[in-house]
Amino acid sequence: MSTLRDKIVLPISFASGIWIPAMLLCCIPWVQKGMLYLHWVTFWPGKWLTEPERAGFLKNQVSPFRIPTKDGESLFAWLIAPLGVYSKNAQSFIEEKTLQGDIEETTSFRLLKEDPLARLLIYFHGNAATLAQDRRTEEYRSYSSGASDKIFVLAFDYRGFGNSTGSPSETGLLNDAEAVVEWALNTACIPPDRIVLLGHSLGTAVATGITYQYAMLPVPIHFAGLILCAAFTNSGNAFTAYSIGNTIPVLAPINLIPSLQAWFSRRMRDTWRTDQRLVAIAKQSDRFRLTLVHAENDGTMPWRQTELLFTSTLQAATAGDVPDLRVIDLGEAGKQEIWENNGKSISKLIAKHGDHDTMMKWSPISLAVLESFALTNVTSATPPRE
Ligand SMILES: *[C@@H]1O[C@H](CO)[C@@H](O)[C@H](O)[C@H]1NC(C)=O
Ligand SMILES: *[C@@H]1O[C@H](CO)[C@@H](O)[C@H](O)[C@H]1NC(C)=O
Repeated sequence: MSTLRDKIVLPISFASGIWIPAMLLCCIPWVQKGMLYLHWVTFWPGKWLTEPERAGFLKNQVSPFRIPTKDGESLFAWLIAPLGVYSKNAQSFIEEKTLQGDIEETTSFRLLKEDPLARLLIYFHGNAATLAQDRRTEEYRSYSSGASDKIFVLAFDYRGFGNSTGSPSETGLLNDAEAVVEWALNTACIPPDRIVLLGHSLGTAVATGITYQYAMLPVPIHFAGLILCAAFTNSGNAFTAYSIGNTIPVLAPINLIPSLQAWFSRRMRDTWRTDQRLVAIAKQSDRFRLTLVHAENDGTMPWRQTELLFTSTLQAATAGDVPDLRVIDLGEAGKQEIWENNGKSISKLIAKHGDHDTMMKWSPISLAVLESFALTNVTSATPPRE
């Protein structure tokens, strides 16, 4: 697959010269922003956002509400109760009067806040569409499947997406992530060791950015885990690695000329340096759990991006020593490599199947969620806890 790409597609792209206007176009700030965030691509009418039952949820299983940011935007969010919690409290959910917006009055919120064993998964979606996009609503249900009596999901739209106000930027999205995490910590009162951050594609950059921000506080805050699916090293690389329609890497020829690649990277307004942020986290934190997942057949973002992140983060964590890796052959499900040391863990799963989006609702991610919450230890020496 990659040989075909390197030997045929790349020379054709290069010779065609189409990458030159494409590259120049991507240097125009508003084009760059539109391409990176794709927030203008909306698949769903607004009604869907406030009526999650249309996406197959039970009555009031999802509580739509708003979270204000420190710079004056208002984010639209969903708190999703897992089926196990719902079924034990069904009457209360059914009778609940839908008070749009007053989240603290909902059954869901009360059950999340009151249960000392409840876990909260914060979901950072990829670019385009909204939190109510069909495939995303299916993902939310799968994440709780391993511990349906415990795992709540909190999903939200970044500024400029769906029914959230504002317009996207790196600083802005990090403010959004901060507002959501602060809500989880201080309004829902969930301690960080019961919070896991899960990012997909663009969302991996946001989830990493906010994990970095909390890890660098004078009194660092560490979450139970950070799971990144289909991640990229930084936005310059994301642009040049990206393939339109899963096949044509329009900007890939830029990578053939290093000085041009450097020039192009400098044109990025929002750099999203996940590579640097993970290295800093690995160097500074005495406790972290990072899980990287990428499918080999991801035609949108090449899995080598995750390979690069794994290598650089591992190097930082082991200070250059040869790491003691555990390799698990998962057959048709791919290959996993795990490094663990004193409360620190970095794991990489390169799956054979799952492409860019489908993987998000498949079992490897649901299992990674369980492991990050320490609800199981299939691959970790750390014993599970309540
Ligand atoms: C929310 O969605 C509704 C319906 O599509 C729309 O009228 C309203 O302007 C939206 N609000 C924001 C802040 O985008
Ligand atoms: C999981 O934890 C138990 C201790 O509770 C330990 O015996 C076991 O080896 C661990 N699993 C792995 C894969 O290390």
